[in-house]
Amino acid sequence: MLTNYLKENTADFHNEIESKLESKKLFEGTFSDENYYKMLRVNHLFLKEYEDKIKKLLTVKDFGILHQTNFDKCRLIEKDLSELNLTELEPQNASELEDRAEAFGALYVIEGSMLGGNVIAKTLKKYPSLKDKSFNYFGHYGEKLGQSWKTFLRYINEEFTTEKEQSQVIAGAKKAYEDLIRFA
Ligand code: HEM
Repeated sequence: MLTNYLKENTADFHNEIESKLESKKLFEGTFSDENYYKMLRVNHLFLKEYEDKIKKLLTVKDFGILHQTNFDKCRLIEKDLSELNLTELEPQNASELEDRAEAFGALYVIEGSMLGGNVIAKTLKKYPSLKDKSFNYFGHYGEKLGQSWKTFLRYINEEFTTEKEQSQVIAGAKKAYEDLIRFA
């Protein structure tokens, strides 16, 4: 199944981004406000480079089935950045996405990151310096997160069934992760 291959083929990238963003500190209680700011700024640059490219390759059917998915999360991070008076990172070159299958691979990285985001938001809300902040981005899906992630996984498993299509989805996910890791 595509989603199993995706998880297996990107596990090392996940470890690498977690390590670059120092997320282990979250659970050790040593994660700082600066660590959170870096996460926001890196994700912002990543979404700014990727969201429009992805949307251009998706179909009306994709948007219909994935109606729970927010394809404009860049705006959510911008609200967080402005609330915290943070500047954006300098724009950087990012890979091009070749087709709809690659776009879905990149979207897998974006939507999957919301699973970690949920943990991050819940943990950081307990930090005295951040407890009044909005977490527009990391907290976005709230209770709907599990449902929207399941719908996404089911849909890509149905849509990309041949070996060729599946390797294109994986190629898109790798491009996205490589850029994200480079930005961090
Ligand atoms: C921007 C950086 C990140 C990206 C792009 C990312 C991406 C992903 C992806 C694609 C998945 C789905 C894996 C799958 O089941 O196929 C995932 C799952 C997950 N990530 Fe991350 N992640 C990021 C940061 C983090 C951080 C910092 C944490 C730790 C707080 C984290 C914790 C998790 C957890 C707990 C899951 C769920 C695992 C499961 O239920 O199977 N992630 N992430």
